[in-house]
Parts: sequence; structure tokens; C-alpha cells
Amino acid sequence: MTFMKDFLWGGAISASQVEGAYLEDGKGLSTADMITGGSVNKERMFFTEKVEGAYYPTHEAVNFYHCYKEDIALFGEMGFKTLRLSIAWSRIFPNGDDAEPNEKGLQFYDDVFNECLKYGIQPLVTLCHYEIPWGIVKKYNGFANRKTIDLFVNYAKVCFERFGDRVKYWLTFNEINGAPLEGTGLNHLGMVDDSVWNLKKPISISELPVLPNRYEGVHNQFVASALAVKAAHELDMGLQVGCMLCNVPWYPLTPNPKDVLATQTKDQMFNYYCGDVMVRGEYPTFVLDFFKKNNIDDSFITEEDKQILKEGTVDLYTFSYYMSNCITTDPSIEIVGGNIVGGAKNPYLEISDWGWQIDPEGIKYVLKNLHDRYPHTPLMIVENGFGGIDKMEEDGSIHDPYRIDYLRQHITAVKEAVADGVPVIGYTAWGPIDLVSIGTGEMYKRYGFIYVDRHDDGTGDYSRHKKDSFDWYKKVIETNGEKL
Ligand code: BG6
Repeated sequence: MTFMKDFLWGGAISASQVEGAYLEDGKGLSTADMITGGSVNKERMFFTEKVEGAYYPTHEAVNFYHCYKEDIALFGEMGFKTLRLSIAWSRIFPNGDDAEPNEKGLQFYDDVFNECLKYGIQPLVTLCHYEIPWGIVKKYNGFANRKTIDLFVNYAKVCFERFGDRVKYWLTFNEINGAPLEGTGLNHLGMVDDSVWNLKKPISISELPVLPNRYEGVHNQFVASALAVKAAHELDMGLQVGCMLCNVPWYPLTPNPKDVLATQTKDQMFNYYCGDVMVRGEYPTFVLDFFKKNNIDDSFITEEDKQILKEGTVDLYTFSYYMSNCITTDPSIEIVGGNIVGGAKNPYLEISDWGWQIDPEGIKYVLKNLHDRYPHTPLMIVENGFGGIDKMEEDGSIHDPYRIDYLRQHITAVKEAVADGVPVIGYTAWGPIDLVSIGTGEMYKRYGFIYVDRHDDGTGDYSRHKKDSFDWYKKVIETNGEKL
């Protein structure tokens, strides 16, 4: 057994990380536009107003807004069957609650999708990838307010109706499972603590106050997502809507039963909480028990909502996978970084320059667990990639064997899972073109098969250059994963 005939090979990008043109053609500000650049040692900062002289990487990003034709042609040259990209909600509804959508924003995505189709590339669209119109934060406090459910559903319907003839696959919220566990909810939920409006100076992202009602915000996203799924199905255009989670396998650092139990809890609350609600259409008991134990009033889950969740279960389960982490109950053990969440260092694994633990086998472990849990739901890996430091040689070449190695090992593990019977329908490598990092706001951390001449000091001419991995990935697609 190997990858199915129409396996969806491709790449994944998000609007705020590539587009730039942050206020062009009527676009409004989004949460992503309010966060400055940082690095592995310097945190990104947030302030409620634009700080003069500060560097905001999403404002220009890699200029996809103006270079999309060139970029899509390169994706086409690699043989992409799909391109996962997101729509910037604030391009369509600049303030979030405008009476009419912004025609120029819609037109931009018409052009992008048409361009994809020219090369036989099926767009796979995320409606909300780490950015919410800033107007919704200011006026409604994001998903803290049920009004935002209506705004999201209206936005989703506008997109389905306008693009549904060309876009079959849709995802609602990117890495939705990051929202309940994070302190801020700014990018996930567009929710801030009241105190931020009195801030006198910028605050680092990790210092933003923890929001006690973030579980309610996530619930509102579940309802919004389920209503969007229902709306897509009602259109009868064959649209399929999926959830999107960040999957991090957790391993107990030792066989100490305390570590094993802590691992089980982490797995439930990080990997399964959101997926269970979105795939099975109801809250798992471990979440309801967690609410009780932590005195979280769960009356926000109304009877009507329960019905909506049941009726709006997703058609596919998609996820990102970059790394695994270990769980320890020993406080003296050092915690290393990671995608959204850190964990204890696994002595068997190497780490990237950003502290992410490289674990190809982990993706197989995740796929098998997911198939076991959701046996009737197709799975798709919509992000996997290696963020590293690339150097352009004198002759313009860029040698990135580390990226090829990482991807080769991960795709091999996916192939093994498929051979064992896991129904994987596609794989989109994260950042097929260099883009702004979400975690650090850097360009220095690069993922692409295509290098972009853009740097963290704001210099660079945005020119595009193929890395060695470009031809390698092209071959992978050409041979449907036979030649790795
Ligand atoms: C995922 C996000 O968490 O990881 C992407 O969906 C992000 O938006 C990717 O870019 C890699 O993380 P980072 O911090 O290296 O950009």
C-alpha cells in the first residue's frame, strides 16, 4: 500500500505570514498586525496602538499580495495538487462587522484561486488562521462575545458562496486546540483582558494576562465552526469542512506512574479536547470533569449549542505536526521550547535551533492514534516542516539538506502509517515559500523550498530563489512519494 492516486500533495501558508499589503485595497487591521517582530531570544510585543518606529513583520511580510502569480507558478512547477492558504478575514470585512463585504478583498482571492486552478492546484482554505479583525477585538472582545459567532458565520457564508465553485476544502480555525491552553487568546480568540486598554506601554505576548473565560471563547468557536459546517453543507455544492489542530505527541519522560498519568491528562486536554467536540459533536467527559474540578461554570454550553455541535460535525480532521514533547512531574527538569507549548527534553531526540524536538516517528504515532479515535474521518497533514537558518551562496544557490532530511523522514513515517491502513488524504508542507514565523515574527527562521530575499531588519528586495529542496519536493510529488 502506498499513497492513494489523488493524494493531495502541496504546501501551506497563511495570509498574515505572506501577504503584506496590510492596509491595501480596503483591508482593516487584524490582531496579527498588532504584534511586533522578535527572535528566539526576544519576545514579540503587543500594544493596543501602533508603536512608531517598531517593526511589524506582517505589514509587508513577503509581499505575496503582489507576487502571488510568480509564487503560484513556482508551486505549479513543483507539481502541487493543493495549496493550503488562509483568507484574511479583515480583507473581506475590514472592521469585522461591516454591513457589506469589501469587494476588492473578494476580488483578490478570486484572482488567487483562479491562478491556482490554472496550474491544476486545488485551493484548501482556512477561514481564520491566527488573525481576527481588530475591530472585533475592540468592539466585542472577540469570541468572548456570542455576537462574534454571527460575524464569523456570516463571513464564512460570504466566502463559501463566492468561492465554493472553486474551493472544495475548507478549514474553520487554525490550531484551535492552542486557544484553551494559552494565556492570551489574542490571536486565537481575539480576546483580551480589560486591563490591556489601560496599558501605558507595549507588553510581551507571554505577559498578557491569562483569561479565565477562554474556555467559553473556545466554545463559541466550536459553535461558530459547527454553524459554518452546516451552512457549507446546506449550499449543496459538495463543500467539505474540516477542523485543524496542532498535534504534539506527549511521552512520559519516565515510567513513573505519576509521569504516565500526567501525560494522559495532557494528551486529553491538548490533543483530544477540541477534536472530540468537532468530530464527535459532543464534549468528552474528561473536559466536563475538568471544568467541575476547576470551578469553571460551564453553563455557556446551552442545550441549543449541544444540538448545533451534533449537527455540525466536521468532514475531515486536519492537523499540523512538527515535534513531540515529554512530560515530567519532576520540577527540577528543564523545560525546552516548542510549537505553542514546551515540554521536557527527550534524551533520544535532536532539537532544532529553535528548541523544537525532531521526531519523525511521532507523526506515525499521531496518525495511528487519530485513526483509532476517529475511524470514519479522513485525515490530512496540513503543516509539517523544518524552520532553519538558510544561507545563500555567492552563486545564488541555497543548500538545505537538513530540510530535505527532516521532510524525507516525516513523509516516510506517513507512508508507513498509510501502509498500516490509516486513511491519509494529503500532505501540505508548511511554508513552501519563506514566510514570517508566527512564534518569533522572524524571517530568519525559514521553512521554504523557495527563498525570499527579505530580512528582519526590513531589508531585501523580495526576490524569490529556489533552494535544493525545491527539486527534491518536485520529485516526491512527481513519483507520488515513491522517490524520497
Ligand atoms: C503552526 C502555525 O503552529 O506552526 C503556523 O499554524 C506557524 O502559522 C507554524 O508558522 C510554525 O511555527 P513558527 O513559530 O515557526 O512560525
